[in-house]
Amino acid sequence: MSINSVGRFPGLRLRRLRQSVAMRRMVRETRLDAGQLVLPLFVRDGKRLRRPISSMPGVFQLSVDEAVREATKAHEQGVGGVLLFGIPEEKDVRASGAHDSKGAVQAAVRSLKKELPDLIVITDVCLCEYMSHGHCGLVKTGRQGGQVLNDASLELLARAALSHAEAGADMVAPSDMMDGRVRAIREKLDGKGYANTPIMSYAAKYSSAFYGPFREAAESAPQFGDRRSYQMDPANALEAMREVALDIEEGADIILVKPGMAYLDIVHRVKTEFGYPTAAYAVSAEYSMIKAAAEKGWIDERAVFTESWLCAKRAGADILITYAATELAGWIRE
Ligand code: PBG
Repeated sequence: MSINSVGRFPGLRLRRLRQSVAMRRMVRETRLDAGQLVLPLFVRDGKRLRRPISSMPGVFQLSVDEAVREATKAHEQGVGGVLLFGIPEEKDVRASGAHDSKGAVQAAVRSLKKELPDLIVITDVCLCEYMSHGHCGLVKTGRQGGQVLNDASLELLARAALSHAEAGADMVAPSDMMDGRVRAIREKLDGKGYANTPIMSYAAKYSSAFYGPFREAAESAPQFGDRRSYQMDPANALEAMREVALDIEEGADIILVKPGMAYLDIVHRVKTEFGYPTAAYAVSAEYSMIKAAAEKGWIDERAVFTESWLCAKRAGADILITYAATELAGWIRE
């Protein structure tokens, strides 16, 4: 053991509190709680289906029965909730599958709430997985190519959210980034007797290259153009504050920042400026990068995943959405 002296301040020894496990534990500022982890699940029709996603090792498209199995494992480790994405068998230009009461997400919600009533079931509300063109809203095609229509998409989003609430979802999470969708969803839910269903809003969602593997997982890559006309420019932080302020005004209960790791400055600002429950989404490429480097033996997977979670919490995130939720929960139990 060595103790440094700090030149001009002979009494100052910041290392004093780092000399033993017990001492470090006593002064630790951030603690990890598996109940604040959320595991995303990709569900589709079928039985006993586990279709691997090649760009996300360990992640699968699951039939409802398999999703319940996966959720049970997560729940047993103490994971707080799951976030459901649907992959419909058929897509069209009106995203009809998004509000289909017999859709895979709606069916998964019903099964999960029946089998695991204490697990928080959150649904992603978006149209991209259900649209043949892969955009998050209705598209008008013209001579200049396609244009994503904001206001016309709101009713569809609200209907999708309502179908999730009717199936029994504990919370809905709109990720489309249309302006005004939180209010549209709030009004729809309130009007139909779901005033107590919270909205976790993807308020600051950036147009990010870190979503690459997800688009394979959800089969939702846009067929033309990109999402820059509705998702945020990675160069902007003040704009994120305006997005969050609007969503709070419209009725958001939890604020989500996405991606996570490269955007922790945004997480921190959102938490300190608004003081709302804040979630960070460690997106697909964050997961895949860690997995890939670990497979090559270049990094210690467990240590890197755990440190990433700790850093998200230190930045101000209460909730972390991560594909590694079950493993993380298991590791901190040990
Ligand atoms: C759907 C949606 C996306 C993600 C979550 N919801 C993809 C996108 O906007 O292109 C990305 C999640 C991830 O990368 O893990 N709108």
